[in-house]
Amino acid sequence: MTGRGGDLVITGIGELLTLRPRPGDPLGIVHGGAVVVEGGRVVFAGPSGAMPPSTGDRIDVRGALVSPGLCEPHAHPIFAGSRAAEFDLRAQGRSYGEIQAAGGGILATVRATRAASDEELIASTCGRLDRLLAHGVTVCEAKTGYALDVPGELRLLRLLGEAARRHPIDLSPTLLAHVPSPDRPREETVADFCSRAIPEAARLGAEAFDVYCDAGAFTLDETRTMLLAARAAGLALRVHAEQFTHTGAADLAAEVGARSVEHLEQLAPSSIERLAAAGTVCTLLPGAALTLRLPWPDARRLLDGGCTVALGTDLNPGSSLSESLPLMMSLGCMQMGMSCAEAWVGVTTAAARAVGRDDAGRLWEGSRGDLVIWDAADHREVPQHYGVGLARTVVIAGRVVRGA
Ligand code: NIG
Ligand code: FE
Repeated sequence: MTGRGGDLVITGIGELLTLRPRPGDPLGIVHGGAVVVEGGRVVFAGPSGAMPPSTGDRIDVRGALVSPGLCEPHAHPIFAGSRAAEFDLRAQGRSYGEIQAAGGGILATVRATRAASDEELIASTCGRLDRLLAHGVTVCEAKTGYALDVPGELRLLRLLGEAARRHPIDLSPTLLAHVPSPDRPREETVADFCSRAIPEAARLGAEAFDVYCDAGAFTLDETRTMLLAARAAGLALRVHAEQFTHTGAADLAAEVGARSVEHLEQLAPSSIERLAAAGTVCTLLPGAALTLRLPWPDARRLLDGGCTVALGTDLNPGSSLSESLPLMMSLGCMQMGMSCAEAWVGVTTAAARAVGRDDAGRLWEGSRGDLVIWDAADHREVPQHYGVGLARTVVIAGRVVRGA
């Protein structure tokens, strides 16, 4: 949703995470802080004693933690149908690949999504955005991908645009080439994406293009062809890479200057330097590793190698049905070698970079007035206290959109 933002004054902040890094303090923490938002933008974020006079509505948070709004860098929020039965089959030992090969998995969601009405898809997408918001998300990347054919993918892109008009979360739409359509030769799908879907998606407001490169999805050559077409159309590039099998897609992502590369469970150590040098954000998706019992992506090694690491939910009906970024922070800390500060960076500034929103995921003069007031006093409690919602109040552009 757009329009001039509100005026708001937040006082009594116990810990304020500005995300303006200082030596020894990557989160730029201010103890005893205040934030002033005017016209939807931060005009002050710092110690209470230095707060300028302001006329906005006041909220005294009585010692609570305040952070920037969280940025979700990787979500598939538009789909219909349920795969709960597959979840149960996997719980009893069947594999994700086996279910997909039998016509289930992504293809089951494609059938349900193609059959759903526009209104159903918009309403269910907005429901998921509500749950993301409830967990503190104010900016969300949103992929198409459950139609497969060009008219269907463009329809999903239009419907994402409609959901964005109805919902306060700032959506960043991505056209996704998910798996080759089973209805036609795969070369035709690739050619259609290059000549029709990508240029039209750019006209419809897509900000990025993403390919799922893996066994059972697109090959490395097909991925390269489509990424180059998307780059020529001016879209930012993302790649679902090295999730189930090592394909070389992460190196390709670095080579073509992708903005982000996703998953990386099967990453070759030699790719780390390339991703760091290319400045490609490594978006790790612990929910998919948890659900599918994949090896945990090695956040520690990527961070030590100089990469920027973001954390996403991978919200989707099959491999990660969760709208909780704080849960992903917990998994990052508990299983992937991240410190609490690194997990916070992963859902704020690093994720904002992956989504292409430089004024989000931080709280200082000129940033967007998106913030979360937490039912916690210490930022480390958010990843520590896992599986519950501690986001108490969510503010977007200086307006309270959830909680009080
Ligand atoms: O990001 N890896 C590919 N695609 C999705 C899963 C989609 C599904 O199972 O519906 C992912 O994990
Ligand atoms: Fe994904």
